[in-house]
Parts: sequence; C-alpha cells; structure tokens
Amino acid sequence: MTFEKTILCIGAGYVGGPTMAMIASQCPRCRVTVVDINPERIAAWNSDNLPIYEPGLDELVRATRGRNLFFSTDIEQGIRENEIIFVSVNTPTKSFGLGAGMAADLQYWEKTARQILEFSESSKIVIEKSTLPVKTALAMERILNCQENGIHFDVLSNPEFLAEGTAVRDLEHPDRILIGSRETDNGLKARQTLVDIYASWVPKERILTSNIWSSELSKLVSNAFLAQRISSINAISALCEKAEADVTEVSRAVGMDSRIGPKFLNASIGFGGSCFRKDILNLVYLCRNYGLDVVADYWESVVKINDYQQERFIRNMLGAMFNTLAGKRICLWGFAFKANTGDTRESPAIFIARRLLEEQAEIVVSDPKALGNARTDLTGVRGQIRYVEDPLQAAEGCHAIALLTEWDLYRNLDFPKIFDSMAKPAFIFDGRNILDHRRCFDIGFNVYPVGKPPLTHFLEER
Ligand code: NAD
Ligand code: UGA
Repeated sequence: MTFEKTILCIGAGYVGGPTMAMIASQCPRCRVTVVDINPERIAAWNSDNLPIYEPGLDELVRATRGRNLFFSTDIEQGIRENEIIFVSVNTPTKSFGLGAGMAADLQYWEKTARQILEFSESSKIVIEKSTLPVKTALAMERILNCQENGIHFDVLSNPEFLAEGTAVRDLEHPDRILIGSRETDNGLKARQTLVDIYASWVPKERILTSNIWSSELSKLVSNAFLAQRISSINAISALCEKAEADVTEVSRAVGMDSRIGPKFLNASIGFGGSCFRKDILNLVYLCRNYGLDVVADYWESVVKINDYQQERFIRNMLGAMFNTLAGKRICLWGFAFKANTGDTRESPAIFIARRLLEEQAEIVVSDPKALGNARTDLTGVRGQIRYVEDPLQAAEGCHAIALLTEWDLYRNLDFPKIFDSMAKPAFIFDGRNILDHRRCFDIGFNVYPVGKPPLTHFLEER
C-alpha cells in the first residue's frame, strides 16, 4: 500500500505512543513510525504488554500496529524515510549547572535536533510535541538550518494537552489542537499540512493556529493555570480545617459560578505528575530570566503551596495519631499520581511514603497498577516497606489507612471487614476526599478528610 504521508515520532513515551496511535487510527493513509533510544520500551510497544497503562490504549494499538503504525529503534532510518517528524522526547527539570532545579533540561531535545540534521536527505517538517520553553523553536531552526545543502526544515509547535488516565479520550475529542508556525510562506504551508492531518477527525473550529511563540507559551500557561486552581483550593482547605468549613461545599459553591467553573477544584494531597511542577518551574525560570521577578514569585507560590499541602498531610497524621508514628503500620491506598494510570512520576505518594518512613512508621503500599513503579521509586529508601496489591489484605493489622490516589475501587470496599482487621483505634486519612466519611465513622473509624472537620470517636475533638 502506498501512503499519502509518512510521519515519524521521536520519543515513544506517555505522549509519543498514544498520540501516534491515535493519528494512525484516524488517518489510515498515513504511515506512522515511532522510534526511541530505549530498546526495552520499543520491545514493549511491539508486545502484548504495552509499556504504559492507559484505558483504551491496548485496543487502539492492536487495531493499528503493523497496519500503519510501527515501533522501531532505528532512528537513523526513521529520519531518512519520513517527511513529517514529531519530537516527543522528555524535557525534565535540569538537575545541574545554571538553572538547576528550575530550567528545562534540553539535552535530549537538542540531541534529537542534531540527529535530524545529520540523517536527513530531504526537506522536512519538524514538530515540537514536547513541552518546551518559549523560543525553543528558534534554537531548533538555527540548528536545523545551519547547513547550506538545499535541505530546508520548517519548525512547528504543536503542544500536547492530553491528561494521563484519559489520554485516549482526550486525543479523540480534544478541547483544542494548537499549531504554531512562522508566518512565512513555507511556515504557513507546513502549518496547513499539520492542520490537514488533525482535520481527519478534529472539528475545524477546534484547530487553533497561532504564532509559534504563543503556541509554545500557551502550553506552559495552561499547565500553570490548571495547577494554580489546585493550589488555590488546597490553600483554602487549610483554612477550612481551622474554620470548621467544608472544602467540598466551598468548592461547589465557588465552582457553580459559571465564570469560575467546577473543574480542577478538588482539594487533595497536592498535584503530582511529570509535568505540572516542571512546567511551572520552567515558567518561573523564564520570567526571572526576563527580569520579571514579581511574576516569577507569583507562579512559584503555586509550587510552594503544593509542597506545603503534602507536608500538612503528614503533620495532620502525626497530630491525630498522638504525635508518634514510630512502629505503627500504615497502609497507603494508591501510589500513582492520579487514578487510571500506573505512572508515579512526582506522585505525592513518594513524598508521603518517605516522610512516614522518616517517622519510623512501617508502610504497606497498595495500588492496582503502580506497584512496579512504586518499588523503583522507593528503592534504597530505608525502612520497612511491603507491597500488597489487594487493598483489604494491605490494610490488615494496620493502625491507619492513608488514601493517596482516587482509584474508584477504594470507594466501595467492605469497610466493616477492614475495620475489624485493623489495630485500634483505627484511622483513615482520606487524601482525596472520595470515601463516605460518615459511613466510615459509623463503622468505628476515626476519619480525617482534607479540608473538612475530622469525624472522630475521641471526646475532646467532637
Ligand atoms: P517519557 O519520558 O515518557 O518519554 C520520552 C521518551 O523519549 C523516552 O522513552 C526516551 O527514551 C525518549 N528519548 C529521549 N531522548 C531521545 C532521543 N535522542 N532519541 C529517541 N528517543 C529519545 O515522556 P512523556 O511523558 O511522553 O513526555 C514527553 C514530552 O511531552 C515532555 O516534554 C512532556 O512535558 C510533554 N507532555 C507530557 C504529557 C504527559 O501526560 N506525560 C502531556 C503533555 C505533554
Ligand atoms: C496535566 C494536564 O491536565 C494536561 O492537560 C497536560 O497535557 C499534562 O498535565 C502535561 O502537560 O503533562 P496530568 O498531569 O496527566 O495532565 O493529569 P491531571 O488530571 O492534570 O492531574 C494532575 C494532578 O493534579 C494529579 O495528581 C491529580 O490528582 C491532581 N488534581 C487534579 C487534584 O489534586 N485536584 C484536582 O481537582 C484535579
């Protein structure tokens, strides 16, 4: 079969894999190849055991793989043979040198740009899919177009807005697709090529085009706004606990204002995930670089509140459990950074587990999809840790349950049985406010939600 377009994606991660599977599924006349430097990842994409858990992804990959979707480690051949190249490599926070702990580490991205230059034998469209600091496309253009050999590269920005756990749905029905380009003839032509690909399944009014710097910046700003909402409600949850207000009632009342809206107002143990923290710090670093210290401080406070919220959760546990956790066994329900994913990158559970171990508690980690990653995250951490997938077994003999991920399965467990199997007094710290607190209290638990008065059987707190 001859294909109308040939597409390469460099980087077979949480974004590259699902995004390319969706393009292959919606554009059968495109041949899509995903390459990566990590051979194990590619082998997993080619197996029945995909490297990431994402609802609906197995079906999507099964329907397209071998038809017009291919996974390979041959980056050189991929670059040579494809006319459109997405770059979806990781862009973590820099851990060394200038900007350490704040700026984006662009070494993977730059290596990719140089590989594209080295192996290309014809002109190409190169698309930034990774989240990058504003003006990265300029550096990309300078590297790619530094040789006078008749080969021309058009650089586009096409940031990804999918959320893990709902990636397939987000990719199929995106709120918007954003494509930034140079406003030159070549830039506009390249932009149209990408618009045409998305127009195979995305309604035209949802495909936004913009100048390239606006596109790069919009991605950082979107994540900053989303994280800001969570930090805002988490900050208010601290006040609710002091003022005997209920944060769920407050967020409901606030969110019903159509100008504010109800989404992303769930108080929690704080946001996790590979991107919010890194992207906000990246934004903060950019602002400082431009001399905008007041703006930088404003956005940095979103991360500070997130750290504060995680530490507050531990302090509340300590306070409730008579100021000592030493020798107590605590079960963690959930380790993933959110439900419906096995991803634990920047999960608040990592911080909480470490802090509990510092307090010399024993921990039992439970999660339906993230135990493998949890083991890796806690490798080398001193203390007593057990991993038990079944939440009932995990809670057996424990003094407390800390609910850290909002998996649906935790909502309807046999709580009387769990209570009977635990040490007394038995505590539940609901870091996601998803349980029926009144019911748990009636069974006998002392219940500590986030941002609400606790329900306890201790006389002085009632
Ligand atoms: P990831 O770490 O899961 O995947 C990146 C992949 O790139 C890895 O498999 C790595 O081996 C590969 N890679 C690195 N350098 C390479 C090179 N030179 N050649 C070939 N492969 C290379 O990362 P991710 O979560 O998919 O994120 C990728 C980008 O997308 C980041 O910039 C991130 O900020 C952004 N993003 C992520 C999400 C998300 O939900 N995870 C959502 C939107 C945007
Ligand atoms: C987020 C954005 O939602 C995506 O649009 C973006 O593409 C992506 O980051 C990215 O750039 O990587 P993701 O991190 O996968 O997606 O998941 P979210 O649903 O945004 O949740 C992030 C964290 O916030 C989770 O830990 C979640 O539990 C927490 N959260 C979310 C809350 O604590 N309260 C809420 O009300 C909502």
